[in-house]
Amino acid sequence: MRKKIIAGNWKMNVKPSEAAALVKAVAEATAQYGNVETVCCTPAIDLPAAIAAAAGTHVGIGAENCHWKESGAYTGEISPAMLVDAGAKYVIIGHSERRQYFGETDETVNQRARAAIAAGLVAIVCVGETLEEREGGKLVEVIERQMNVGLKDVTAADCAKLVVAYEPVWAIGTGKTATPDQAQEVHALIRATLAKLVGAEAAESVRIQYGGSMKPGNAAELLAKKDIDGGLIGGAALKAADFAAIVAAAN
Ligand code: 13P
Repeated sequence: MRKKIIAGNWKMNVKPSEAAALVKAVAEATAQYGNVETVCCTPAIDLPAAIAAAAGTHVGIGAENCHWKESGAYTGEISPAMLVDAGAKYVIIGHSERRQYFGETDETVNQRARAAIAAGLVAIVCVGETLEEREGGKLVEVIERQMNVGLKDVTAADCAKLVVAYEPVWAIGTGKTATPDQAQEVHALIRATLAKLVGAEAAESVRIQYGGSMKPGNAAELLAKKDIDGGLIGGAALKAADFAAIVAAAN
């Protein structure tokens, strides 16, 4: 049985001065759902406040990106070792917004993911197709490429520190959600692709989250699907009550 994992992706929302209150509200509102792994991924500058607020609660804190080098002349970047040192436990890698706006490629996703896992972080590696790719019949090709290149040289042992998030780009922040059947179809493809990379047993152990307009009203039906093991939540992660309702649906 894979433990369900619900993670908030705060994106470039929530100021440092607001972070502790949101983490505390999430911890309180989800305290009764201890069998769901509950995570808030925050802007890097919010991490110290978020980590302090989460101390002693069941909520884990993560970052939204990291570099692949441990240190060096990379102005503006943050290394996995720095995230670990700060007390972060998770990091999102290769979110579609990073691919779309910041030149992230499958190759840099691979470098970041392997470095994050090697540093001891749980890497939440995002994949997903655009509407154009889906309508152009390229869904399978795109997902397989993102998985095969993005997770190249990731081992079965690494899978203990790997979560994959399926986020169809057309469903992010649009209010459009993949139907549970559409999502399950791609989750099954992701698991089959992973099995070819790391073996069936390790692939079975990896949690695959759905992300893209997941909210209290649609979470339960998505999470009921066989290969949907959690959610990566954008907008609905900014209100503790909405986020907690999704965690409750996963419980
Ligand atoms: P929304 O939940 O706002 O659609 O965002 C999804 C997402 O991108 C999470 O990483």
